[in-house]
Amino acid sequence: MIAELSNPSVLMKDPVRVQEILQSMKKAGSNTLQVISDFDMTLTRFAYNGKRCPTCHNILDNSKLISSDCKDMLKELLDTYYPIEIDCSRSVEEKLPLMVEWWTKAHDLLVEQKIRKEMLSTAVQESEAMLREGYEFFFNHLHEHSIPLLIFSAGIGDILEEVIRQAGVFHSNVNVFSNYMDFDDSGVLKAFKGELIHIYNKREGAMLNTGHFQELRTRPNVLLMGDSLGDLNMADGVQDMENILKIGYLNDKVEERKQSYLNLYDVVLINDETLEVPNALLLYLT
Ligand code: C5P
Ligand code: MG
Repeated sequence: MIAELSNPSVLMKDPVRVQEILQSMKKAGSNTLQVISDFDMTLTRFAYNGKRCPTCHNILDNSKLISSDCKDMLKELLDTYYPIEIDCSRSVEEKLPLMVEWWTKAHDLLVEQKIRKEMLSTAVQESEAMLREGYEFFFNHLHEHSIPLLIFSAGIGDILEEVIRQAGVFHSNVNVFSNYMDFDDSGVLKAFKGELIHIYNKREGAMLNTGHFQELRTRPNVLLMGDSLGDLNMADGVQDMENILKIGYLNDKVEERKQSYLNLYDVVLINDETLEVPNALLLYLT
């Protein structure tokens, strides 16, 4: 039905079910569709030319806005907690408090750095952040068809907005749930706003935003895109859901995690740095 689903990067536990969901969504029409996507390592590349690409946090960690002592501490946190994030031998219950610890420690360190709001755009410009190949079609097509895109990220809202703004794709159909920086009157970072979003509380994050999902209640068909198992909860606030198709990017520790991704995501994309498959599905659905 869709040629791209035969790409070598695509794995599906139940291809027939995928076809059924897509057919049912197509029948309902694109005016019933909404897209909910994670940001880091889902809309952005995991690696380029063999080198890891940065997350929102890493964009700051590696920037000139951070002292070299602080860089060392943030790097130590990354080296300690990232392996825990992707460790499939530990349960979510075991990992959750450790993830809260990581985000909290990192945010405390960032606040100590007296980061100036007006410097963020340069930090993004000078970073190696890259949206996945095919991002222009992805963002532009959703905009042209008035399909709402919710970017739901445990990264940093101010940074991810800047990434998509600089790429020229921050259109009016895009909404963002993320961790936003709080600046004092002189434009210096003093805290992060609201409840912390980390990779394992996206369900709670969704529940705090019932107004958004209420507005989109005429769109009960969801295309969900993520790279972490925590991303599977991003659509928990959707009202009267009819169909959901879950696309999961499996970027790291592929062999160890393949089975759990296949069990929980409908379509699994292995080491795929492009948006080719989501774009093909969107083209089919619109
Ligand atoms: O946008 P998304 O929800 O994917 O953002 C979360 C990602 O940010 C996590 O996968 C984690 O690896 C990364 N992270 C980071 N530095 C931190 C905290 C999280 O790179 N201090
Ligand atoms: Mg992610």
